[in-house]
Amino acid sequence: MKSKLVIGNWKMNKSFEEAEDLISDIQDKLESWSLQTAVVICPPFPYLELATDHADESDFEVGAQNCSEFENGAFTGEVSASMLAELDVNFCIVGHSERRKYFHESNDTIAKKIDQLMKQNLIPVFCCGELLEERKSGNHLEIVEKQITESLFHLSKEHFEQVVIAYEPVWAIGTGETATPEQAQEMHYFIRSLIEKKFGTETAYNCYILYGGSCNAKNALELLSQPDVDGGLIGGASLKSDEFISIIEAAETVLKED
Ligand code: PGA
Repeated sequence: MKSKLVIGNWKMNKSFEEAEDLISDIQDKLESWSLQTAVVICPPFPYLELATDHADESDFEVGAQNCSEFENGAFTGEVSASMLAELDVNFCIVGHSERRKYFHESNDTIAKKIDQLMKQNLIPVFCCGELLEERKSGNHLEIVEKQITESLFHLSKEHFEQVVIAYEPVWAIGTGETATPEQAQEMHYFIRSLIEKKFGTETAYNCYILYGGSCNAKNALELLSQPDVDGGLIGGASLKSDEFISIIEAAETVLKED
């Protein structure tokens, strides 16, 4: 069985000092462990270097939460993929529903960001997921298919194989309402079938498909036990080291049981 992947998305939280404490705490807890699960933390831009300095001596990797769709130039406020690569960041979240909602990112913009990440050999963590009304009207599979097709299926097979997908139903993000394990499994299986049709069985099997949306220490074991759930993208619960570590523990338990 392939290993699990647990990614912490801090969003726009923590002071510098708090970030330092949280990173050190995670580092200490991971140190005493020989982990099978891959762990990534995605702090805000100003703390990336702090995180990569710690990651050098530890068992986790670092990701950014966003990057520019442009390569470089007069784009005030933007951060390019090459700047992230220079900081030794390995992952970058793209297409998060908060960016789609508040910054009007389209599937096309997200595709361009993914292309920039590919040029720098960074791993995109591509987020997709339906709104509550889309689920209620039974369109959730179609919506996710469109997001994946428009943002990822222009890639070559070789490039696609670098992508991590995170299914995050928008109605479950930060709401305390989690998708049931059955709902998550249904969508993850569907996503894997889309990949299989486009790129073949091996690529589909190897692709990491994470679940995100109010995943926490209590529900992680059940969610991560689903056959097509390869890990989690964790928001709120990644801001407390104990809670985050419990989720990693759940991933380890699933790996041991298999
Ligand atoms: P949440 O956020 O775990 O706080 O619901 C997940 C995410 O937005 O990535």
